[in-house]
Amino acid sequence: MEIYPKTSTQPEVQFRWMVRRDLPEVLEIERQSFEFAWTEEDFLRCLEQRNCVGTVARVGEEVVGYMVYQILKNRIHLLNFAVAPQWRRKGIGTQMVERLKKRLVQQGRQRITLEVRETNLPAQLFFRHCGFRAVCVLRDFYENTTEDAYLMQYRHRPSLKEQEAASQQLRRLAS
Ligand SMILES: CC(C)(COP(=O)(O)OP(=O)(O)OC[C@H]1O[C@@H](n2cnc3c(N)ncnc32)[C@H](O)[C@@H]1OP(=O)(O)O)[C@@H](O)C(=O)NCCC(=O)NCCS
Repeated sequence: MEIYPKTSTQPEVQFRWMVRRDLPEVLEIERQSFEFAWTEEDFLRCLEQRNCVGTVARVGEEVVGYMVYQILKNRIHLLNFAVAPQWRRKGIGTQMVERLKKRLVQQGRQRITLEVRETNLPAQLFFRHCGFRAVCVLRDFYENTTEDAYLMQYRHRPSLKEQEAASQQLRRLAS
């Protein structure tokens, strides 16, 4: 397992939709990040779906990370998530998750879920750091190995302001 030591500088990260011309950089990060990497076709097939969203994180013009997620009826499901090896342990993954949490509220959903391989301890620790918890084991989840997966979940707790706005809306509807 490679060790990425923590660094103190926080790069300024910008986000935008993933577009086709991002794919060479995204595929390079994907190959460096996963033993069973998605191919270009996997990305394209996934992003063609109406409820699938791809986002890239950039520092300057460089793509430093990306995520692909599905907006489901009552949750957001993360399908793919990676930060380029040379940009890890700088808080970029955390900023990507913060972005996703904002989307969750905007989309009126309460939960973010994802599957993580049982051997992928860095990702488990990372998502735990971001407020996710393992909720169940998915036995023999993968086609390419005999590994199990953990289903990890983040549950949004509405702030007092959001609770107040929701009850005001209910009062308006009831009057
Ligand atoms: C998991 C991943 C996205 C984390 O991205 P990152 O930008 O390095 O994460 P951050 O810098 O925001 O880390 C935040 C915290 O998560 C935890 N963390 C992140 N990487 C860790 C690691 N390798 N080992 C232990 N803890 C880790 C730490 O608590 C860290 O805080 P700290 O740096 O102050 O100690 C990145 O390692 C990655 O792309 N891995 C390969 C792809 C992958 O496994 N994706 C997930 C598939 S489910």
